[in-house]
Amino acid sequence: MALHVMHVSSEVYPFSKTGGLADVLGALPLEQAKLGQNGESAQVTVVSPWYGRLGGGLKPEYLAQFEVPGMAEPSQVGRIVQGGVTYLFIKQKGFEGPELYGLANDLERFVYFCKAIPFAVAALELRPDIVHAHDWGSGLLPALLRFTPVPPQMQGVKTVFTIHNLQYQGRWNPWDVLSWSGLPADLVHPDGLEFYGDVNLLKAGVVYSDAVTTVSPGYAQEITTLEYGEKLEGVLWRTQQEGRLHGILNGLDMERWNPETDPYAPFEGLEGKARVKQELLKSLKLESRPTLGLISRFAQQKGVDLVIEALGELLEDWNVIILGNGDVFPERVLTLLGKYVPGLHFRQGYDEALAHRIYAGVDAFLMPSRFEPCGLAQMISMRYGTLPIARDTGGLHDTVTPDIGFLFPDATYESLLEGTNRALEVFQQRPQEWRSRMEAAMTLDWSWRKGASEYLELYRRLIAG
Ligand code: ADP
Ligand code: GLC
Repeated sequence: MALHVMHVSSEVYPFSKTGGLADVLGALPLEQAKLGQNGESAQVTVVSPWYGRLGGGLKPEYLAQFEVPGMAEPSQVGRIVQGGVTYLFIKQKGFEGPELYGLANDLERFVYFCKAIPFAVAALELRPDIVHAHDWGSGLLPALLRFTPVPPQMQGVKTVFTIHNLQYQGRWNPWDVLSWSGLPADLVHPDGLEFYGDVNLLKAGVVYSDAVTTVSPGYAQEITTLEYGEKLEGVLWRTQQEGRLHGILNGLDMERWNPETDPYAPFEGLEGKARVKQELLKSLKLESRPTLGLISRFAQQKGVDLVIEALGELLEDWNVIILGNGDVFPERVLTLLGKYVPGLHFRQGYDEALAHRIYAGVDAFLMPSRFEPCGLAQMISMRYGTLPIARDTGGLHDTVTPDIGFLFPDATYESLLEGTNRALEVFQQRPQEWRSRMEAAMTLDWSWRKGASEYLELYRRLIAG
């Protein structure tokens, strides 16, 4: 019997994206649909908000209008079908703009987004077997399915909740959450929705779903500890003890990230990569030297500040190319330094084309993360023969092996420099070894095949009870 999996997420590539969450939703469902065609038989739907500006160059086909309890205006649902996956977009008041998050009414927007889903499903006469919700934006959905009146086809449906990032929890005033969601007030207790006086939407997902996953086995262990638990370690530890917490390693869209067919910096073999590097350095007016890249959201998690601290020493030996945006302080410091300091190129912003050229053109890629649930950037780098120099944590620990990349133990600039120096020694003293590392990196298989099967297996176990 075909299993109908319905993913729910606030971002999905190529329609909306702020980080790796979008990449996962842009790749995992496609792979699950493909597995479906190979006999495991899955029907895959992804539900996401219909933002004012959707990427990908397609417009959803309008399907239906429906009412959501508590909302004055009706909601609408549209559809795009691609690669065997059905993407449903929920159009509602509050989502007219291009921004995904950071608005004053974020809570209201995402509560109503979650509330709309069972009614959109009913309007379209769908019948999902599994609802797979991702991160805080869809964290309330499992609780809504259990504790509020929903159409019959959504009653008792099994739920999976995936934590992509424990630092974004969605904390709000309990009365606002209760009044918008319609959830009963007696759920606001320490084993339920309550969290240090607030209601926590990510915690709601953890507590009220049938299974909880996170995006690497390493991070699944780490989040049950004080160091990484973001105050949810107790809840997560209990979840693990109950056998409800699983670590499933993310994969990559191996076609989207393929050096041979790359739309911005295509190359074949190591000679091709050397040419792409030359072109990149020339276009950025950098000298021919060993070159480091970093592409990231600027958030405390990512350790861009450690790179700034280490920059003086790094620039003695390397060019450093940085692409990113987010926190204002590193943006301002790097903009200033980028203007006056030779060997440093900083581009502030989100730039898909430049990102491809950096992944393809630099020698090594920096990821000095304080924590990293999985990390996709290191996998992308390796696909392009770029060796990661990464902090030994979470998903970086699970994906960067010492025969290919360079792990360093601490989130300090000294530890980072120890890592880059080790890499530099190989790059300069043992070029043959560097070449073999590159070749090995480029043959690694990061496809979603294994991860997609692991999720399907988990769904089947839940359904079988
Ligand atoms: P996270 O999800 O924590 O941001 P990941 O490594 O999982 O980290 O995924 C980040 C994704 O976002 C990668 O696809 C990366 O290439 C992309 N990305 C991050 N910052 C930028 C940027 N400034 N421009 C283009 N792409 C970016
Ligand atoms: C998060 C994490 C990142 C992970 C991504 C996709 O944003 O920070 O480590 O790769 O989600 O799961």
